[in-house]
Amino acid sequence: MPKDEIVNLALRRALFYPAAQIYGSAASGFFDFGPLGETIRRKVIGLWRKQLVEKEGILEIFGAQILPEDVFKASGHLKNFNDPIVQCKKCNSLHRADKLIAAKASGIVPESLATTELDKLIDKHAVKCPKCNGKSFDKVRKFNMMMKVDIGATGKQAAYLRPETCQSIFCDFPRLFKTARQNLPLAIAQAGSSFRNEIAPRNTLLREREIGQMEIEIFFNPDKINEAPDFGEVQNYKLNLMLLGKKPKPISCREAVQKKLVSGKLIAYYLARTQQLYEAYGIPLEKMRFRELDKDERAFYAKETWDFEVETDLGWIELIACNYRTDYDLKGHQEQSRQKMAVKEEGKEFIPHVFELSAGIDRTFYVVLDNSFRKEKRGKGERIYLKLPAKIAPYDAGIYPLVKRDGLAEIAKKIFTQLLDEEFDVFYDEKGSIGRRYSRADEVGVFGGITIDYQTKEDGTVTYRYRDSMKQERVKASDLPSFLRKVKKKA
Ligand code: GLY
Repeated sequence: MPKDEIVNLALRRALFYPAAQIYGSAASGFFDFGPLGETIRRKVIGLWRKQLVEKEGILEIFGAQILPEDVFKASGHLKNFNDPIVQCKKCNSLHRADKLIAAKASGIVPESLATTELDKLIDKHAVKCPKCNGKSFDKVRKFNMMMKVDIGATGKQAAYLRPETCQSIFCDFPRLFKTARQNLPLAIAQAGSSFRNEIAPRNTLLREREIGQMEIEIFFNPDKINEAPDFGEVQNYKLNLMLLGKKPKPISCREAVQKKLVSGKLIAYYLARTQQLYEAYGIPLEKMRFRELDKDERAFYAKETWDFEVETDLGWIELIACNYRTDYDLKGHQEQSRQKMAVKEEGKEFIPHVFELSAGIDRTFYVVLDNSFRKEKRGKGERIYLKLPAKIAPYDAGIYPLVKRDGLAEIAKKIFTQLLDEEFDVFYDEKGSIGRRYSRADEVGVFGGITIDYQTKEDGTVTYRYRDSMKQERVKASDLPSFLRKVKKKA
């Protein structure tokens, strides 16, 4: 769906919008999520939690957002977490050098290229300033993307807003390994905010400065990378793998392991579980791919990376970095902190390796909206609805009395509280015409509608209205819990 449609809907219904917008001084790249946006976003995280974290026995933590400088000395972010930037000599605007070149050369330009190489590419492609059309730039330089904060009154305790949620997982590893009864593989997850000082935030939630992340770090014995407890369950499941320089192709997990396209069964297993999660978000398989990154494109800590991407109107969007980080992080923290990160298994001591699934929450949220957005002609007007899967629809149903009078509102409120007590996500709305109430709910993806009318008073039935087909059927009010469970399951 065109980005404008998504942004219009987001602003019209306050799904998300720029933070502190009443002030002209507000920096870009920060967003607030309004009530309905927050509800859908929470459900997006909830499905990740149910389908990956809980099903796979992963431990979830909630770490602090500000961490001391030592953490980022150890992680390498102080030295390596840089973007190449370039300044226009005419209008002084700053730009990401790799993105400017990529736009002109229509291809991917690795951000890790040496600054001198980027200078050459700017010359070679005669890149112009997108702001003023100027043709002359200063030399490309590296800019560290972490946001620094001072702790305490002395201002001498340097610290940073975390640029990725996983660093607290790495710092916590020895403690969590102990409390998890010292068994590998051990997977630890976290959902929360990370912060990156993007030069040019753009495309709303797709390039932010405060980034929602849901990350999973799997710690394992590198000698056992070919052991995945439930590999049998996914061995015939096909991953859409886009190998270096190739087109995406469905390849079974077994074949990916046999042909050594991935480093081992453990990696294929988690890639499969990830792709299945995005199927559950409603993304069609043909719009997903795992793109293999070559050395120049990978993050500084990664030995193998698959970017999980989804196709939208804006092109292929990276949603998840699937990084084989080896022992890079634990080793770094062991050296910096002098705390032991090594573990012992079958008499052998080693530092565990890490495979990571680092998903963007807000990017996933955006892509889910993009994928579910429907606009249809209806008579002289049009109908907009979000075809969200039941599990991430903001509500299971709206409860509507046809009119407020004649006792209909009282019956509707009773049904509303009964369904809340049965753990359904429902809301009550008695304002405006029934048609208008339906279309407001459809526009934000509410899964169904329950209308209480005069017939309800006579025979105890209500109307259930399906969001996608707009079909209606009569259901006994007393059967609503089992009926709603059935329609949700079928969807
Ligand atoms: N933890 C990996 C990332 O933030 O991209």
